[in-house]
Amino acid sequence: MPIVQIHNSDASFEQTETHDSILRAGLAAGLGLSYECNSGGCGSCKFELIEGEVEELWPDAPGLSARDLKKGRKLACQCRAKSDLVISMRTDESFRPSILPQRFQATLESRRELTPDITEFRFHGPAPARFLPGQYAMLSLGDAPGPRAYSMSNLANAEGIWEFWIRKKPGGRVTESLFALLEPGDQVTLQGPYGLAFLQTAVPRDVLCIAGGSGISPVLSIARGMLSDPAMAGRKLHFFFGGRTPADICGLAELQALPGFAERVRFHAAISEPSPGDGWEGAVGFIHEALEQTLAGTLADYECYLAGPPPMVQATTKMLLLDQGVPAEQVHFDRFF
Ligand SMILES: Cc1cc2nc3c(=O)[nH]c(=O)nc-3n(C[C@H](O)[C@H](O)[C@H](O)COP(=O)(O)OP(=O)(O)OC[C@H]3O[C@@H](n4cnc5c(N)ncnc54)[C@H](O)[C@@H]3O)c2cc1C
Ligand code: FES
Repeated sequence: MPIVQIHNSDASFEQTETHDSILRAGLAAGLGLSYECNSGGCGSCKFELIEGEVEELWPDAPGLSARDLKKGRKLACQCRAKSDLVISMRTDESFRPSILPQRFQATLESRRELTPDITEFRFHGPAPARFLPGQYAMLSLGDAPGPRAYSMSNLANAEGIWEFWIRKKPGGRVTESLFALLEPGDQVTLQGPYGLAFLQTAVPRDVLCIAGGSGISPVLSIARGMLSDPAMAGRKLHFFFGGRTPADICGLAELQALPGFAERVRFHAAISEPSPGDGWEGAVGFIHEALEQTLAGTLADYECYLAGPPPMVQATTKMLLLDQGVPAEQVHFDRFF
C-alpha cells in the first residue's frame, strides 16, 4: 500500500483501500490534516506534490483557483496515492480527529418526509454511532457518483443510528438516486465522522444556531446535544432557520420535543420568497437579516453555529464578524458545497 509522507515532518500514513482519498486516509490514521468540506469545494486541503504520483478524482474541483492550478497544487480530498508520496500540506492539532473516522455499511431503517424537498433518512450501522453534535459523514450509494457529505441530525448513540436530513437537489446526481431508489432494507456505505463545526460544551456562553435549508440537520444535532448535556444546563439557545417559502420551515416539532425547550429555547423562522395568500405571518427576508434585527449589539455574547449553502454562510459570517464584532473563534460553520 502506498505510504504518504508529510514534507518536513516525521508524519506519514498509508493510502489504504478503505479510505478513498489522501485526506480521508490521513484523518483515519489520526493526523491533523487541514480540511473543511471533504467535497472539493473549499480548498482547505490543498497540497503540493513533491514526490510520487496521484490519481485525481475530480481534476476540475472548484476548490482550486486558477493560480493553484498554475502552481500545480492539488486537493487531498480529491486525490488518491498511486505510489509512495511526499507532500507539502498544512497540518494542525485543531484538525486532528478526536473520534477516528471509520468506513462501514449501513442499512436504511426508515425515511420520513419533512418538507416538499427535505427527507429524513435513518440508517442503522453495525456498531455504536460515535460522533460529535454538528459533524458529518460521507455517504456512497451503489453506482451513483460520490461520496457526498451529509450532516447527522441526531446524537451519538449505542444503537448505531445515523440520521440525516437531506434536501433533494433538482438534477443532483446523488440526491435524485437517494430519493427515487432508496427503500428500507437497502444499504449504503458511510465514512465518518468528519467536521470541525461541532458543539463546544466547555464554553460558558449561550448558543446561537443559524441554518438555511438543509443546514438544519447539523444545527438540530447541536441543539439536541446542548439540551441533553448536564454541563450546559444553564445555557440558553436562539435557533434561527431560513427557508424560501412557509413550506420549507421544519424542525420546530423536534425542538419542542426536547427537555427544557419552553424555558431555554427561542425559535425564529424567516422566509425569503413570500407570496400573497401563503398565510405567512412571520419574518420576511434572509435569515442573517432576521438574526441581526433580533439580536444586534448582543451577538458577541454567543457561541455561533452556522450551516447551509455558501452564500448564506458568507452573508451571515460577514454580518457576525465584520458588522457585529463577534470574535472569529466563536463562529463555527460548515458550508454545504
Ligand atoms: C460538510 C457538508 C455537509 C453537508 N450536509 C448536508 C446535509 O446535512 N443535508 C443535505 O441535504 N446536504 C448536505 N450537504 C450537501 C451534499 O453533500 C450534496 O452537495 C448535495 O446533496 C447535492 O448532491 P447531488 O449529488 O445530489 O448534487 P450534484 O450537483 O450532482 O453534486 C453536488 C456536489 O457533489 C460534489 N461533486 C460534484 N462533482 C463531483 C465530482 N466529479 N467528484 C467529486 N465530487 C463531486 C460537489 O461537492 C458538489 O457540490 C453537505 C455538504 C457538505 C460539504
Ligand atoms: S476539504 Fe478538500 S476542498 Fe474542502
